[in-house]
Amino acid sequence: MELLNVALPKGRLGEKVYGLLKEAGYPCPSIEEENRKLIFENPEAGVRYFWVKPSDVAIYVERGAADIGVAGKDILLEYAPDVYELADLGLGKCRMCVAAKKDFRDSMDRTLRVATKFPHIAARYYSAQSREIDIIKLNGSIEIAPILGLSDVIVDIVETGKTLLENNLEPRETIVPISARLIANKVSYKFKHQQIAALCEKIEARRRQ
Ligand code: PRP
Repeated sequence: MELLNVALPKGRLGEKVYGLLKEAGYPCPSIEEENRKLIFENPEAGVRYFWVKPSDVAIYVERGAADIGVAGKDILLEYAPDVYELADLGLGKCRMCVAAKKDFRDSMDRTLRVATKFPHIAARYYSAQSREIDIIKLNGSIEIAPILGLSDVIVDIVETGKTLLENNLEPRETIVPISARLIANKVSYKFKHQQIAALCEKIEARRRQ
């Protein structure tokens, strides 16, 4: 049988996801070795894993380079890839928030300057409130923007809240809760349906234990 190609997000979340897949019956001993390889396969379990940048998982899956993968709901909301969302894995839980300096007072008659890595999520959120905003797209260290006066607020992921606290910022509004989702390529879902359905069932069974 053809191997199931699985794109995993490189990093802490990916390690947890691999842990879940391993327990669900899809181990891959070579991935557990200390090395810098990016592709690993275990023909006995029928899987080939590869590590990709978390924000790229959805691209691999959408274009069929991976049959399935795991991506944060933040990425799915931001890029709206044409994939199936199969399951909420309950891992990587955090929330998308608006945060500001503790002393920031908003005024509705000013355009709000919003720094973020997630321009679409921010635009949708404020447009639903008919609020005029100026989006400043950044690629990381978003917390610095309000401190240096580059923006009034940020729209970013908050997990423990530590990063905000240590930078004198506070969460003001929660936009949406976020967690890791299992996603599938639409064509693979049809042609490798049995393999994908079996994996989903085993993951669900493992999560219920
Ligand atoms: C996210 C986010 C915050 C931090 C929040 O960054 O952008 O900086 O985590 O976590 P906390 O509430 O537990 O402090 P991430 O680690 O994803 O790195 P990045 O900004 O470089 O993508």
